[in-house]
Amino acid sequence: MTDTPAHLTIVDHPLVQHKLTIMRDKGTSTAVFRQLLREISQLLAYEVTRNLPMTTTRIETPMQEMDAPTLDGKKLALISILRAGNGLLDGVLELIPSARVGFVGLYRDEETLQPVQYYFKVPEAMEDRLVIAVDPMLATGNSSVAAVDLLKKSGATNIIFLCLLASPEGVATMKAAHPDVPIVTAALDESLNEKGYIIPGLGDAGDRMFGTK
Ligand code: URA
Repeated sequence: MTDTPAHLTIVDHPLVQHKLTIMRDKGTSTAVFRQLLREISQLLAYEVTRNLPMTTTRIETPMQEMDAPTLDGKKLALISILRAGNGLLDGVLELIPSARVGFVGLYRDEETLQPVQYYFKVPEAMEDRLVIAVDPMLATGNSSVAAVDLLKKSGATNIIFLCLLASPEGVATMKAAHPDVPIVTAALDESLNEKGYIIPGLGDAGDRMFGTK
């Protein structure tokens, strides 16, 4: 795992990088893309939950009693930024099945590249939870900033942003607006093109995972 000063963590595990390369390849089918996204999201979830607070609970093994480690605190909230966030959400949920789940619906106006909200539903007591917002592509950062704005308005104070690919522009935009929100990603790509797509990227994540065009 690579930690940069800019509150960005790049999960450079060989399995993550190998799977990501296959996902980037334009010849990879929708089915394989979806399966790999599920697998990668579990590996990213493993990293993103590395510092969760722990406590102990008294249990009895078949041999004797012991104070055994368990997760402390309220349940996590996983927030999928629709629609592509759902691809990351499924895998993370497999690893953390008891997490609460919320959805932020934002689409990107293709002219202005600005986010437009169409849905918002999150669990209660957001202020007590670690909130993991998931969106595969941190591109311009505009929709990520808007989503985090909404999460903070709902009470969240402890937020991590989990994505598959990030652009330098997106990371900078997020850092300027939300310096308190760490970003965890599988790769930091080179740039954005004029349409706001990540270069070299993997194309439109939603289209690739759902088979739309
Ligand atoms: N959203 C995508 O799906 N892909 C990009 O490259 C940028 C934003």
